[in-house]
Amino acid sequence: MKHILIDADTGIDDSVAILYALKSPNIHVEGIVTCFGNSGAVQSADNSLRLVKISHCGYHVPVVVGSNLSIDGEYEEGQPDIHGRNGIGNVQLPEPDYPALDVDPSDFIIQKAKELDGELIIVSTGRMTNLANALMKEPKLPKMVKKLVSMGGSLHVPGNVSEHAEANIYGDARAADMVMRAGFNMLLVGLDVTTKTFMTQEVIDKTRKHVREDCVDSLNYIEQALQFYFDFHRRGEGMLEKSFTHDPLAVLLAEDPTLGIYEMIRASVEYKAEDYKGKILTDFRFHPDYNHEAIAYCIQVNSDKAIRRLFSVFQK
Ligand code: BDR
Ligand code: CA
Repeated sequence: MKHILIDADTGIDDSVAILYALKSPNIHVEGIVTCFGNSGAVQSADNSLRLVKISHCGYHVPVVVGSNLSIDGEYEEGQPDIHGRNGIGNVQLPEPDYPALDVDPSDFIIQKAKELDGELIIVSTGRMTNLANALMKEPKLPKMVKKLVSMGGSLHVPGNVSEHAEANIYGDARAADMVMRAGFNMLLVGLDVTTKTFMTQEVIDKTRKHVREDCVDSLNYIEQALQFYFDFHRRGEGMLEKSFTHDPLAVLLAEDPTLGIYEMIRASVEYKAEDYKGKILTDFRFHPDYNHEAIAYCIQVNSDKAIRRLFSVFQK
C-alpha cells in the first residue's frame, strides 16, 4: 500500500489524478493540501472535498486549504479559460460531507510525515509553495518522507508558459528552486512525458461499457470535466476529443515508477531573470561538495499502459 499525500491546485487534470488515487487499491490517500494555481486554494479545497464525496472511496480524507500566495507573497489569477471558473470545468458537484480541516498546511504536511514514519509519498500537482513553506519550518522534511513526485517542468521540450517554463514551476519558481535543492528523493514528471500521453473520449467510452457501480459518479464527472479540457486542447493545440495527461501521470508514477524511464539530474530553478523564470537549470559537472542529491526526471513513459491503468480503476 502506498501512503500518498496530494498537494494540488485542484483543476481538471488534478481532479482526475485525485479520483484515480482515491479508487486505486494500491493507494491510501492520507490527505489533500491545496494551493493557488488553476483556481484559488479555497476553491481547490472545496473541489477536493466534493471529489472525495463522489469517489465513494470508503474512508475519510482530510483536506487542508494551503497557500493562496507564492512564497514571495505574489497573487495570481486562476486559469478559467483552461479549467473553468471553478477550476473543474464549471461542473457542479454535490455539496461536500464535511469541511476542510482547519490546520496550518505546513504543520499538516510535517505531521503526516512524522505519523507515517518514512512511508509517506508526497505527490504535488501544482505549485511547490506549500512544500517550500513546510521546508522552512522543518528542513529535515526530505529525509522524513519516502519520496516526492511532482508534476512540473520541461527539459527537452518547450514549456507551456514560456519557451523555458512549465506552469507549476513558473507559478512559484523560487519555491520550486528551494524544493528541488532540498535533498528529497524526488521524481519529476514534466511536459516531456505528459504531452505525449493522452486522455481521450474513446477511452472514456470504453470505460463506460464496464464501469463499476461505485464509479459511475466519478466517470460522469470525468467525462463532463474533460469536455471542457478537450475544448481547451482543441483551441490551443488543434487536438480533437483528447487532452494531455499532466497530473494523473504523477500519481501513476508514484504508484508504479516502472512505467517510466528517467534521467538523473542535479537541478535548480531560475527565479531571478524574468525572461528565464521557471527554467530548470541542470548541472552535469562533478561537484564533490554538492548539497543535494540528483532528481529522477522522467523522459519516457509507457503511455498506453499508463492510460489503461488510469481508467482501469473505474472498471469491473
Ligand atoms: C500543470 O499546470 C496546471 O494547469 C495543470 O493542472 C498541471 O498541473 C501543467 O503545466
Ligand atoms: Ca495541477
